[in-house]
Amino acid sequence: MSAIEITELSKTFKGKRGAVVEALNGVSLTVGQGEVFGFLGPNGAGKSTTIKCLVGLIQPSSGNATIMGKAISAADARKTVGYLPENPAYYDYLSAEEYLHFVGRVFQMPEALIAQRTEEMLKLLELWDARKRQIRGFSKGMVQRVGVAQTLIHDPDVYILDEPMSGLDPIGRALVKDIILDLKKRGKCVFFSTHITDDVEKVCDRVGVINKGRLLVVESVENILQRGVEGYAVRVINKDGQGENLFVEKINLQSFIQQSIQHQQSIEKIEPRRKDMEAFFLEIVAQ
Ligand SMILES: Nc1ncnc2c1ncn2[C@@H]1O[C@H](COP(=O)(O)OP(=O)(O)O)[C@@H](O)[C@H]1O
Ligand SMILES: [Mg+2]
Repeated sequence: MSAIEITELSKTFKGKRGAVVEALNGVSLTVGQGEVFGFLGPNGAGKSTTIKCLVGLIQPSSGNATIMGKAISAADARKTVGYLPENPAYYDYLSAEEYLHFVGRVFQMPEALIAQRTEEMLKLLELWDARKRQIRGFSKGMVQRVGVAQTLIHDPDVYILDEPMSGLDPIGRALVKDIILDLKKRGKCVFFSTHITDDVEKVCDRVGVINKGRLLVVESVENILQRGVEGYAVRVINKDGQGENLFVEKINLQSFIQQSIQHQQSIEKIEPRRKDMEAFFLEIVAQ
């Protein structure tokens, strides 16, 4: 069973004065259990619209989707989902600890487990010292950390995260990436949106690029990066002990190695030089 299956999802917003926005146009996509999927697109591409349809906050105009085999129109499809909204806003008169307790109760967890998981998540997100403070006094990054903590509290199978790294400092970003990789290790499905290619490169198995409501391409990150290898940065040490840095084209690598051996040069390093995810993304979106 797929974790998430999206079939021909479309959403048209009809505004005042007859304005019509086609936010999503026939998006189909399957994400597996144990997979980390990056949903990459520029601002206004339709990422949040897709996510809001998945978690039942808005109704698609047409098409449908399932989460762990359950239709998203059914309320119990969300029991096993951790959802991080794009602009998290919580009952900000609650403390971080009270809020996580509240979320645990919503998911009908036993009280002892709520207390245990709350402590674990507050410590994981480095909010333990701030746990008694009202969320209203939190910085943007701290609120984002509360957001991530509340997706984890009930240990769901599927994580739908709208720009999870946004508003975080480098330490927070690294932490969230580690959390995502850990979820993957535990066989969970993580579907997250971003406009930052670096986030995708580091943690995703596959990436889907969306622009103007259309899913343009779905590819494995490994393929993209492998295909993008243009050549190798090589450092050789000559017979006389002098080092030299060279760039060797992809097709010339084998003959270069043979020649180096013939000339009694030792090779100190061979590093692939590749077009990165950023170049891939810009190329696709420019089409
Ligand atoms: N409630 C809404 N009413 C009208 N237009 C909307 C609404 N929500 C989103 N849109 C429009 O749909 C498009 C996609 O938005 P969104 O899914 O939020 O993009 P992303 O998350 O990729 O930045 C944008 O043009 C946006 O203005
Ligand atoms: Mg968005």
